[in-house]
Amino acid sequence: MTRHSLRRWFGVFFQFIPWALRGLAAAVLVGIVVSLSGAWLAELFLWSCWLFFGFLGLPVRPLFRVWFCQRRSGLSWREASAAVRIQRDFKRLCWSAGLSVREDEHKVMLEQLGASTGQRAVPEEDSGAGLFDWLTVVLGFRRWSDTVKYFDSPRILKCQVTRHGLVLTVLRGERAKTSVDLAADDVLRRLEQAAREITGFYQLMLSARVIGAKTVWSFVFRDSLAVPTPVPAVDFSRRVDPEQPVVIGLQDSGESFSLQVAGRHTLLVGASGSGKGSVLWSLLLGLAPAIRAGLVRLHGVDLKGGVEFFLGEGFFYEVAYTYEDAKKMIRQLSDGLDDRLDSMRDSGVRKHVPTLEEPLELLIIDEAASLTYLAPDTKSAKEVDAALKRVLSTGRAAGVSVVAALQDPRKEALATRDLFTQIVALRLRSQDDAKLALGSALHEAGARCEQIAQSQPGTGFSIDAETAEIQRFRAYWVSDDAVRAVAARVQGGVERV
Ligand SMILES: Nc1ncnc2c1ncn2[C@@H]1O[C@H](COP(=O)(O)OP(=O)(O)OP(=O)(O)O)[C@@H](O)[C@H]1O
Ligand SMILES: [Mg+2]
Repeated sequence: MTRHSLRRWFGVFFQFIPWALRGLAAAVLVGIVVSLSGAWLAELFLWSCWLFFGFLGLPVRPLFRVWFCQRRSGLSWREASAAVRIQRDFKRLCWSAGLSVREDEHKVMLEQLGASTGQRAVPEEDSGAGLFDWLTVVLGFRRWSDTVKYFDSPRILKCQVTRHGLVLTVLRGERAKTSVDLAADDVLRRLEQAAREITGFYQLMLSARVIGAKTVWSFVFRDSLAVPTPVPAVDFSRRVDPEQPVVIGLQDSGESFSLQVAGRHTLLVGASGSGKGSVLWSLLLGLAPAIRAGLVRLHGVDLKGGVEFFLGEGFFYEVAYTYEDAKKMIRQLSDGLDDRLDSMRDSGVRKHVPTLEEPLELLIIDEAASLTYLAPDTKSAKEVDAALKRVLSTGRAAGVSVVAALQDPRKEALATRDLFTQIVALRLRSQDDAKLALGSALHEAGARCEQIAQSQPGTGFSIDAETAEIQRFRAYWVSDDAVRAVAARVQGGVERV
């Protein structure tokens, strides 16, 4: 037997000591009560209680919960027991993160308060309550650690065990001023560390989202987005409504993630190599049946030498690879928009519905900053800017939408940045970039783009324009072959300029 295994056996042996002591104390207690009462039925009842609660109840109950949790969620046994531990030790966890006060600290605080005000602030010890705690522990109803009281702790409102971990919706206690404080970086770091120590699960990761007055903590045992998911095969027999959200990847809950394109202008921000290409291609592959059917008409701007869109030219009605072509295309779109708005006004229509005659016009711009820095002169830059502004400010109602990818979230990179109605942010280089792209409030509410791993391209946060809810997702991984194959099939239905 090695030294290591000996130490392990000793560890297990010592774990049983408090349990055995409790059983012994309970036996003495039961023995005293039984000898005082003398009735054989009471004797039987008390000895059964001792047997069940003292020896079986306490260890069996969590085991049962772990089994139940594992059956329902599909987590492994180890992950399910970590989820149960976090729920059981929630208050201790919050205390470790500085979100609550333990009773001994509370007493010291009250004593200090008493000393400064000259009044007695510490309440009398309640010996009855102490005895009750002792009895419940001895009889096996609770662990000794369950009797420790914590003050001002956050409260669990909802608890969900998912395929990837534990999701707790919590309400702040007295120590945190707002729900955003429960999502602060240092709080999350301490909570994560405490959860790792309590569960012994060192891969555990914690992220937070703020929804109004509530905070959602997601303890993830395995990141559902860690492994890329290839884009599913396109089913051309399926009718795709371009006005509906398009599935472009997976959410961190493992469900599919959709992006609303029609009726919105989407700004896709992400550092170089963050996977903007996979978001764009997932979107186009999702829309492929509608593009082939002629309900969506694609206009592409790719001034980076055409490296991105050349591959899938078959999707596009027109693609601009030079600044002059891009200028002409955006101006034509802006003019066409005026005609469409005129005809809508004449026929009394307030919202455009895509048809074969008047499809959804989708302008996709890869690296939108190139429209600024590649402009041959200020006059051209201003012209493009004005046309794009016109499309962004009036296009939505007339069935013209824009999706623009951008590496640099600064306003100088794209003057029209503020006219986009929806932001999708992938990995960004720094906290400042993330705050610039999304605003401080959303960053503090959990959209930490700078923390996305470089090894996870295509991962990002989307912010729902209506509910302002933050959604973490990963776009599908789209291979060049998949783009080529789908483009070849779409091409047949696409009319080109
Ligand atoms: N969802 C994804 N899953 C797996 N790998 C991905 C995913 N998205 C992108 N990648 C990989 O990451 C790398 C960079 O992706 P991509 O070219 O799309 O980044 P980008 O943001 O467009 O960069 P740039 O701004 O330089 O054009 C590529 O090698 C690509 O294969
Ligand atoms: Mg790219």
